[in-house]
Amino acid sequence: VPDHYEEDVSSILIPHGVIMDRIKKLARMIVDNSQGPLVVCCVLKGGHQYFADLVDEIKKLRRINGTSVQLSLEFIRVKSYMNDTSSGGVKISLTDAELQEFKGKNLLIVEDIIDTGATMVKLLDRLALVEPKSVRVTSLLIKKTYRSNGYIPDYVGFAIPDAFVVGYALDYNEYFRDLDHICVISVSFKIIWDVI
Ligand code: PRP
Ligand code: MN
Ligand code: MG
Repeated sequence: VPDHYEEDVSSILIPHGVIMDRIKKLARMIVDNSQGPLVVCCVLKGGHQYFADLVDEIKKLRRINGTSVQLSLEFIRVKSYMNDTSSGGVKISLTDAELQEFKGKNLLIVEDIIDTGATMVKLLDRLALVEPKSVRVTSLLIKKTYRSNGYIPDYVGFAIPDAFVVGYALDYNEYFRDLDHICVISVSFKIIWDVI
């Protein structure tokens, strides 16, 4: 943990090396289960690091055993708003015209974490309207929480306890995205922010 975050995290939950080992296996599973070209959709911002490393590992598999799946890369900014339930609490950056590009394609959605599942269910509802050929979802993390809506992605990296985790592109108020490991935030850091 770099100096500028040392006092703000209470523990390392998943070290960077363990994340990378798991992503190698996920890449293999995804490639083995995919036929034809794949549109890999990064859910920004939190999904960017997993997306980058996953695509890297898929490319490495090609060099090792010639596994060839053609990838195209897409980016969707999805933001959930806790206090806004009127719009379903989720805003998607693509226009309807841009979403139409997904019609008939094999999509792989890449997310960092499924917490309540609300973001992913809303995104999938929206994507279903444009009739992709198939939609699969991978999330590096799924949180075991009573707030879950029951949604489970197709490919999961790790199931984690109901703690506030940051790092590896997961943020708390935009902090900690630049941390390599997945860490549990310290109670004091969270309290200080929540009263501001
Ligand atoms: C976080 C996370 C997931 C979502 C999970 O994104 O990256 O996308 O929340 O929560 P849920 O399962 O309860 O819906 P956030 O909205 O914080 O945006 P960010 O990715 O830009 O940080
Ligand atoms: Mn996100
Ligand atoms: Mg966030």
